[in-house]
Amino acid sequence: MKILITGGAGYIGSTIASALEDAGHTPVILDSLITGRKEFIRDRIFYHADIADRAMVRKLFSEHPDIEATIHCAALIVVPDSVSRPYDYYTENVVKSMTFFKLLSEINYPKLVFSSSAAIYDAVPGFMVTEESPLRPLSPYSRSKFMMEMILRDFCVAYNLQGIALRYFNPIGADPQMRTGLHIRYPSHLIGKLVQVALGHEPVFYLTGVDWPTRDGSAIRDYLHVWDLAQAHVAAIEKFDQVIANGREDDINYTVINLGTGTGVTVKEFIEDFEKVYGAKILVVEQPPRPGDVVGAYANADKAYRLLGWKTKLSIADGISDALKWGRVRDTIIHYLSVKMC
Ligand SMILES: NC(=O)c1ccc[n+]([C@@H]2O[C@H](COP(=O)([O-])OP(=O)(O)OC[C@H]3O[C@@H](n4cnc5c(N)ncnc54)[C@H](O)[C@@H]3O)[C@@H](O)[C@H]2O)c1
Repeated sequence: MKILITGGAGYIGSTIASALEDAGHTPVILDSLITGRKEFIRDRIFYHADIADRAMVRKLFSEHPDIEATIHCAALIVVPDSVSRPYDYYTENVVKSMTFFKLLSEINYPKLVFSSSAAIYDAVPGFMVTEESPLRPLSPYSRSKFMMEMILRDFCVAYNLQGIALRYFNPIGADPQMRTGLHIRYPSHLIGKLVQVALGHEPVFYLTGVDWPTRDGSAIRDYLHVWDLAQAHVAAIEKFDQVIANGREDDINYTVINLGTGTGVTVKEFIEDFEKVYGAKILVVEQPPRPGDVVGAYANADKAYRLLGWKTKLSIADGISDALKWGRVRDTIIHYLSVKMC
């Protein structure tokens, strides 16, 4: 099958592209490279354009009329940035996605898989969430994901779209073959920061938020290997019609699926796992939470198994080990421009 991936030059989109290729499919990449990496496009079919560039999207589909579905990963994703730049986040993630979805419906390419986020869940007792658990997005980033879920659902009612919203928990690791991985030069989130410290690029790890109501005070997450996450997309694409038929509710061709391991791990527990794989201690300094941080949740992943036949296969240790491996090879694959500070 030929599949369009928006944001296919990013961390997750490029991993999905590799997983689709390995399964015999052909990805077509649409990416503005606003944050993504041209090195991750490899020899794939590539359109260097914005998702809201209607003329270019039309051209892409006229040149590849055999595209069978779209995976929409393109977005801005940094939570604290979204707090200081909400206009940009709502423009990129909501306004442009809406323009793109409307065009897909107009040109009759209705099958859409949307990258959503577990960041939209409210904190619940015990921290395990099903797809029906209450939502309470707390940052402009997570609100943009929440809004796009609502908009996609409404478009599935009013237009001809069929949508699968995949709520990702916390992806870690890299493509096990080291084709792609986390590309942000100075990452702001847990695993990226830990790798920076382990490789000696940063002296200390700042553990933000230690007074949450969890078993050890640090936030709780559900860390899944990005390769497992990518495999869930392969399943969603290959079983698309079945997933919609079995997952739709209220006669609407739309369904939401959690993608996580089903196990909650606190940040402190994750650091211990990291130290075991890395083989040494990490210097940790505790700090208050960052703007937009949340206590977190872990997935009830039953629906993913029921609809996609998917569950995670790789462990946290695999994810950490691949993240460390990627950290060591990253700069031989990505050619960063040096920025001189004045
Ligand atoms: N990384 C995570 O922890 C995580 C967790 C939950 C959900 N998600 C979602 O997964 C998706 C992919 O995230 P990622 O970690 O790969 O991020 P990323 O920044 O690596 O990739 C995003 C890609 O989208 C592209 N892009 C952004 N705006 C665009 C536009 N208007 N037009 C065309 N291309 C555009 C960027 O250039 C980049 O290549 C996002 O939608 C994100 O919200 C990520």
